[in-house]
Amino acid sequence: MPEIKSSSYSIFISKNIAKDIIRFLKANKKGYSSLFILVDENSLRYCYPQLVTSILQFKDAEIIEIESGEENKTIEICTQIWASLSEYGADKNSLFINIGGGVISDLGGFAASTFKRGIPFINIPTTLLSQVDASVGGKTGINSDNLKNEIGVYSNPSAVFVNIDFLATLNSRQILSGFAEIIKHGLIADAAYWKKLIECDFSDLDKLEQCIMASIKIKNNIVLQDPEEQGLRKILNFGHTIGHALETFFLEENGENSLLHGEAIAIGIICESYLSTKISRLKEGELKEITKFILSNFKPVKIESIFYHRLIELMKHDKKNTKGDINFSLLSEIGKCEINKTAKADLIIESLKYYSEQVILFNK
Ligand code: GLY
Repeated sequence: MPEIKSSSYSIFISKNIAKDIIRFLKANKKGYSSLFILVDENSLRYCYPQLVTSILQFKDAEIIEIESGEENKTIEICTQIWASLSEYGADKNSLFINIGGGVISDLGGFAASTFKRGIPFINIPTTLLSQVDASVGGKTGINSDNLKNEIGVYSNPSAVFVNIDFLATLNSRQILSGFAEIIKHGLIADAAYWKKLIECDFSDLDKLEQCIMASIKIKNNIVLQDPEEQGLRKILNFGHTIGHALETFFLEENGENSLLHGEAIAIGIICESYLSTKISRLKEGELKEITKFILSNFKPVKIESIFYHRLIELMKHDKKNTKGDINFSLLSEIGKCEINKTAKADLIIESLKYYSEQVILFNK
């Protein structure tokens, strides 16, 4: 079973994660005083039953269920989790187990890391997005005032267990959402991987497993060099300055029917590739290749021009900004990314227009 070593923890990728989890639980010689499992209605229904049949210890765990969706990654829900931990007597020897997507690992990781100044937690990511991104790298947090991940701490899980079989319960929209981060990994760090991706049939789960492994390795390698995003790690934000603003905007406008994270990031990747041609030397041909691949996989999204200024406002709140400039990580070529680039509002709006024009051309 492949094991990728990170700083203080391992990421296990296997179709039999129950075995790995049992081994992990046994490795704690003192034993955990209690187990708490955070789930949403989807992971409770589709993933928890597969685990509890083979992991006896999970039978005695307290289950904390929250509603799925980014709109629940809030301080109010976090307070409810803390209250459940207090009510059921969690202590520093308890283990907190996140079973679910990125909302669960971000929120659960944050709740565990702040409860009694921190209790250990593990991540069992069940969506493609959380397997290749959110569950690895120690970022935990919640949204505040609809601003993404505005409050949070860096805190590593004690282990991550990735089982590709969980992906069989996801719809194609959720798979694509995770695929956006995989695309990003190729674009920022590995041109040969990008070439493979544009030819990959990612509805084939075995092919997808290889991509998951490659993507986790790319992300882990970056995080190991710069765990708290002082420099290099910022390349993981490629596509995210504009992507996060779109995600927040659609969350404000449409609530439950908003864009999935990866859907917003896919648009962000196109817009920020456009900026890359203007600011960091990405070639026009490479921009076309990226645009074509994304538009042939992701559904087009209508972004009305009257909202451009609201989007710029949202970008101004981005955590990466300094001195009021809007900060980007941009491509110099496919497979290479540069950090600390800034762009003026007019050029950012031009990139949003480029996206909308390309959508029209592509669908003609
Ligand atoms: N999702 C970007 C990072 O973990 O740094």
